[in-house]
Amino acid sequence: MRIIGYIAKFSRLHFRRLLGDLARLTSDARKVSAGWAKIFLFLRYRQDDFMSQAPIVYPLATSTWDAAEYDALQKVIQSGRFTMGPKVKSFEEQFAHFMGSKYAVMVNSGSSANLAGMAAAFYAPDFRLSPGDEVIVPAVSWATTYYPISQMGLVPVLVDVDLDTLNISTHRVREAITPRTRAIFSVNLLGNPADYSELKKICDEHGILLFEDNCESMGATINGKQTGTFGCFGTYSSFFSHHISTMEGGIVVTDDEFLYQAMLSIRAHGWTRELPERNLVHDKTGDPFKDLFRFVLPGYNLRPLEMEGALGIEQLKKLPSLVEGRQRNAEVFLSLFADMPNIRTQKVALDAKSSWFGFSMILEGALAGRRDEVVHSLTAAGIECRPIVAGNFANNPVMAKINAKVSGSLTAAELIDSNGLFVGNHHYPIADEIALLRDVIASYN
Ligand SMILES: Cc1ncc(COP(=O)(O)O)c(C=O)c1O
Repeated sequence: MRIIGYIAKFSRLHFRRLLGDLARLTSDARKVSAGWAKIFLFLRYRQDDFMSQAPIVYPLATSTWDAAEYDALQKVIQSGRFTMGPKVKSFEEQFAHFMGSKYAVMVNSGSSANLAGMAAAFYAPDFRLSPGDEVIVPAVSWATTYYPISQMGLVPVLVDVDLDTLNISTHRVREAITPRTRAIFSVNLLGNPADYSELKKICDEHGILLFEDNCESMGATINGKQTGTFGCFGTYSSFFSHHISTMEGGIVVTDDEFLYQAMLSIRAHGWTRELPERNLVHDKTGDPFKDLFRFVLPGYNLRPLEMEGALGIEQLKKLPSLVEGRQRNAEVFLSLFADMPNIRTQKVALDAKSSWFGFSMILEGALAGRRDEVVHSLTAAGIECRPIVAGNFANNPVMAKINAKVSGSLTAAELIDSNGLFVGNHHYPIADEIALLRDVIASYN
């Protein structure tokens, strides 16, 4: 009976998704001249999908775009201005306003946002960072949380996370502090805000800096304040699978004028071109012939495209409803998994609101050590899943190539690494998908 139930639910979900996709494509087809070609591709794709053993009914990520984004792209094409320009600037102003920050700088990815923020901090005279200084980071995060630290000659010090929140353990942060500690680079994992009241207390007590990697948690809040705004700088990703999508993209927010100006320079070859005449990085000469080609900081080319700025403007309008949709799904997930034995779900602090990037599960008790089987069953049921970010990052071979340290044991990170997985969340209702997930997991108990 249970198998027949699965099949019925599975077919219903798949059929519904097909209809949704078809409706979206048909409306696109009316708008773009190549619409029929798209339908042809769609049918071909779906045919392959049907032929394969497990069509995906509950994907990890889906598009947040509609006609507004395609129109915005068309307008950029018609304007003929493709490189960073007025659309990027306008998006930056709107983004800063939305987040409640003084400044925002758009770059070409969340990874670049971390790089720009870290490099600007490194060159900030007041921060007095020098090579060999230590930056405390959680052991569970994305690779490009760590690289910009070591690329500036600083030393990432990995500490364990809390098994419930999946965020940096403030208790482990305290134990990791040495005379070389200069900063904490906190990460809000899978939409969940870290404990900033405690982290700020630690920073004040020890005279160290707080930076925030918020690439997975756009739209999350603590007592109404947006995450990404708790440290000297905060970063966001607008890559496809995230809360908003600008294709590729990233943003850094800050209230610090030096960091802002340094990032404008670092984003574009380290020149002064986008800086005001008098600025905190390096004053201009007043002679445009010289000022357009004057290099003052070791920078990169991290510039976003106008299309990404134009997409950001459209997506930002939708951000509140995209996040609310995810939060409503989280209520369904939490209620269906409240009494599920052997599954640990992510916990959110009472004063915080997660923007629920996805739904994580750590297999415990009778399910511990059986992740391969569970992944197999989920895949067979058409549910996409993946490891929790990069698991215990200390286990990655790249650690041999960067100057990093580990402080204390990484017990929780190790459990996440070996027994953790997560499934996607979306901005539209997915109660049926979550119920299917629950049924598959429940069959193990
Ligand atoms: C915590 C964290 N930081 C940084 C990034 C990098 O963002 P991007 O993929 O836009 O480079 C990611 C990617 O998802 C991430 O999860």
